[in-house]
Amino acid sequence: MAFVPPDLSVNISSLTLKNPIMTASGTFGYGQEYASFVDLDKLGAIIVKGISLEPRSGNPYPRIAETTGGMLNSVGLENIGADRFISEKLPYLVDSGACVIVNLIGNTVEEYCELAQKLDKTSGIKGLELNISCPNVKEGGIFFGIEATSAFQVVGSTRRSTKLPLIVKLSPNVTDITVIARSVQEAGADAISLINTITGMAIDIETRTPKLANITGGLSGPAIKPIALRMVWEVSRVVEIPVIGVGGIMNAEDALEFIIAGASAIQVGTANFVNPKATIDILLGIEKYLTDKNINDIKTLIGTLKI
Ligand SMILES: Cc1cc2nc3c(=O)[nH]c(=O)nc-3n(C[C@H](O)[C@H](O)[C@H](O)COP(=O)(O)O)c2cc1C
Repeated sequence: MAFVPPDLSVNISSLTLKNPIMTASGTFGYGQEYASFVDLDKLGAIIVKGISLEPRSGNPYPRIAETTGGMLNSVGLENIGADRFISEKLPYLVDSGACVIVNLIGNTVEEYCELAQKLDKTSGIKGLELNISCPNVKEGGIFFGIEATSAFQVVGSTRRSTKLPLIVKLSPNVTDITVIARSVQEAGADAISLINTITGMAIDIETRTPKLANITGGLSGPAIKPIALRMVWEVSRVVEIPVIGVGGIMNAEDALEFIIAGASAIQVGTANFVNPKATIDILLGIEKYLTDKNINDIKTLIGTLKI
């Protein structure tokens, strides 16, 4: 009998992805940077670096420090701004056949809305990911994501500004993530992605100075995977909308853990810095797992944790 490959497609609200592999914002540039390693149209979606209305220069250097099992960054959402993204970066991505999701960041609710309206009118964008969870900026960002009322407000207002599928990215730097998750679902989010980085710091003991100029930064990589997995499991039990898992996914086994915990899709972040082909390796590994286990549709694996 002819081999029939498993169905890897997943649904994120109205958006059907050819497979559950997405790139995590800020770790895959604007896509083109990785195009010599990865066929961009082979991935479920490319989530680009966070975009703001106006360009941002980010935080002072040094803004990266290696830690045990991960890295700290305080990049601070440096980006070229929406207009240049649309004119200089988006056409390449669209031509490549990639499913493009834009991660957006604002200082105020009004900025999020204006940006969402602008992107809504731009063809080639398949969805938005609202970053209300960046720990490395002084305004906006995380301040919307750590309190249920302000999360509700920013998500509700952005929801009314766009018809595009709206994913909301949550911060792990909260006491109970399920409270924020429920609130953004109620405000109209189509999906939730989690987690962004966990606030941390590192010190140079020779100089007794912080290793990051910003003093604190966001921890990512394998060190945060168990926390991300726990939060995906907790959130997927209390919301009806799809959950997208992100945090320390380095290989197919990690990705499968998130899917079994309840994630409909996953994002690959820090792994791209270690292995620029990580996304494709993870895709092939998932396909092999499904084939070996005679699972013909990945959707039947989502949330099948046995307790
Ligand atoms: C250098 C760097 C830049 C990032 N920039 C963004 C960003 O612009 N927007 C965002 O929502 N998340 C950003 N993140 C967070 C990642 O998308 C992801 O949530 C986090 O790194 C955890 O996943 P990982 O452990 O697989 O890297 C950034 C992470 C890193 C390491």
